[in-house]
Amino acid sequence: MFTPDLISNMKRAARIVVLTGAGVSAESGVPTFRGEDGLWKKFRPEELASFDAFISNPRLVWEWYSYRRRLISEVKPNPGHYALARMEDVVENFCLVTQNVDGLHRSAGSRRILELHGNIMRNRCMECGRKDESADLDVGDRLPRCRCGGLMRPDVVWFGEMLPQEILNSAFREAEEAEVFLSIGTSAVVQPAASLPLVAKRNGAYVVEINMESTPITSQVDETILGKSGEILPRLVGEVWGIEI
Ligand code: OAD
Repeated sequence: MFTPDLISNMKRAARIVVLTGAGVSAESGVPTFRGEDGLWKKFRPEELASFDAFISNPRLVWEWYSYRRRLISEVKPNPGHYALARMEDVVENFCLVTQNVDGLHRSAGSRRILELHGNIMRNRCMECGRKDESADLDVGDRLPRCRCGGLMRPDVVWFGEMLPQEILNSAFREAEEAEVFLSIGTSAVVQPAASLPLVAKRNGAYVVEINMESTPITSQVDETILGKSGEILPRLVGEVWGIEI
């Protein structure tokens, strides 16, 4: 199912960069954003995932994040996550850039991860910026407060907000230096993440997309493999490096 070009490029690459999106976690049971059952089909992002929404109704926004935290706490990584973690073991320079906030890559064993959109399990103080990794799953009746008294918010990037600058810079640097770049399970419509595969391509990387359907970048990448990442990635690491998931 894989082309000889893909296999040989992956085998000889010393630098592989992977960009993942919600599709990678779909087989674990985490809803995507834009698919038929996607979250943004049922909810309006500007009412739940924006700074203005939080300021005008922090309780509603916290309820939405508590709901998603509970959901994520009950799911496990799938074979796609595990295949990417094993890929990191065998590639000299490997970097995983993710738009996902669910932490499943880390649970699967990935180590070098750039979380572009933050992490849903972490809180951040709106006053002093302190981050709290041990945040409660369910905030309950009382809005969480920092020890400085400031209101805590989920440490995720909301609509209209900037991405964490250092992480974003690192992601672009990685994309520029990649020899092989995989764009997996992302609709490739949300910027700036969506431009990473194109930056990699412009800088000479062999760019491969894995998705259930074509996306706006399909015509610009070297190959698109249509299918589920949880099925394709284990087969790919099997063929390239003989790894069994
Ligand atoms: P989307 O929901 O926009 O896209 C998910 C993509 O995954 C789609 O292209 C699907 O075809 C594909 N897909 C679904 N199941 C798959 C599977 N099993 N294997 C492979 N591909 C599959 O999610 P993202 O591209 O991640 O931002 O969305 C980007 C950002 O938009 C998110 O990080 C979030 C959202 O608003 C923030 O919250 C800041």
